Amino acid sequence: IDISSFRNASGGVITMDPGYKNTGSCESAITFLDGEKGILRYRGYSIEELAEKADFLEVAYLLIFGELPTKEQNEKFHNDIKAQSVVDEDVKKILDAFPKSAHPMGVISSLTSALTAFNPSSVNVDSEADMYKSVVRLLGKFPVLVAWTLRKKEGLPLDYGDKNLGYVENILKMMFRQPNSEYVQNKILVDALDKLLILHADHEQNCSTSTVRIVGSSHAGLFASISAGISALWGPLHGGANQAVLEMLEAIKEDGGDTKKYMAKAKDKEDPFRLMGFGHRVYKNFDPRAKIIKRAADEVLGNLGVEDPILDIAKGLEKEALEDKYFVDRKLYPNVDFYSGIIYRGMGIPTDMFTVMFALGRLPGWIAQWREMRLRKEPIGRPRQVYTGATERSFVPIEKR
Ligand code: ACO
Repeated sequence: IDISSFRNASGGVITMDPGYKNTGSCESAITFLDGEKGILRYRGYSIEELAEKADFLEVAYLLIFGELPTKEQNEKFHNDIKAQSVVDEDVKKILDAFPKSAHPMGVISSLTSALTAFNPSSVNVDSEADMYKSVVRLLGKFPVLVAWTLRKKEGLPLDYGDKNLGYVENILKMMFRQPNSEYVQNKILVDALDKLLILHADHEQNCSTSTVRIVGSSHAGLFASISAGISALWGPLHGGANQAVLEMLEAIKEDGGDTKKYMAKAKDKEDPFRLMGFGHRVYKNFDPRAKIIKRAADEVLGNLGVEDPILDIAKGLEKEALEDKYFVDRKLYPNVDFYSGIIYRGMGIPTDMFTVMFALGRLPGWIAQWREMRLRKEPIGRPRQVYTGATERSFVPIEKR
């Protein structure tokens, strides 16, 4: 290797780490992850305990401000969010301009970015009080945008639900209330969604979170930074995997349910097919979130009385993969997205909304990471490169090329 190509202008050496597999980009006190042991903790609390005992808004507060809220803090936080949960009427015009076929992730990232236009002062976050205003604004308005994106797709009138309800309860009501009929809350769905959102709430420096931090490091506002994170989440190698998993399971079902055939495809290096929902950059052991979600999927579908052949195919694939040398050698276990889509489907959420639901869960984590980055006054993110192009050349006029 010619080491000179790894030198930067001032003579220092540039480390090359494609995909940042071994590069830490920041110090963070938010989420602890041990991929070898399968441990995930938010601010020191285990994901298992939080999923069982906390609700999503408490976890959001914990991630963003570092401590579990007292009763008073929790109430104030919720009230401040509720006070910000109205969206400018003109946002409806933007929503209307999207074709019905638009992917909800494109719609939601555009609407989130558009929030800056309606709240220009939100970009100034010189004090913690300014930051707090932007944070509660986004936590108030984002679920409305999510619900409206779904309602627009389904041809339903836009709805604010009922502010007297809990945060997650109201999300479900805003999404599913039908015109001229009373919406009946289903506790099983509320609990399941609470759990799913908690499990997705943060995951340290993944692709979308790093995006939020790097965009925010240029002092772009919170809404623009989160909009960029949503775009990063969209891809099938990241949050888009939950949609891709369901589409894969559907395809296997349509094809006669032969899981062995798809296992073979996944192992064939000439075939681009990958078993969606398997593998993880950091977990080289069972994803602890997948364990909780797997149990929840059984409970929710059992309680709702949903018999889904897709679940049987998923279980079959999991069993085969856990016994297969290719998957065992590469430590490819089911990740959080392998089962989340099955629960969302049981809840009646359309497949192309799955990744939007992931974004809804990840929102507090992105906000917490953005806030931490700003409070620590981190420098602008600016990776270097190793140049491999042409050396110096003289310009050739077009007629002589
Ligand atoms: N199916 C088949 N083979 C796989 C899979 C898979 N799902 N995932 C990884 N492999 C193989 C690779 O082909 C490679 O094999 P090789 O060593 O013989 O070349 C080896 O396992 C290592 O894979 P990498 O792609 O190098 O691992 P990386 O850490 O870069 O990728 C990723 C991790 C993107 C999650 C990958 O496992 C994948 O594509 N999984 C499917 C998509 C998915 O479920 N994404 C969701 C991730 S979780 C989340 O973002 C919330």
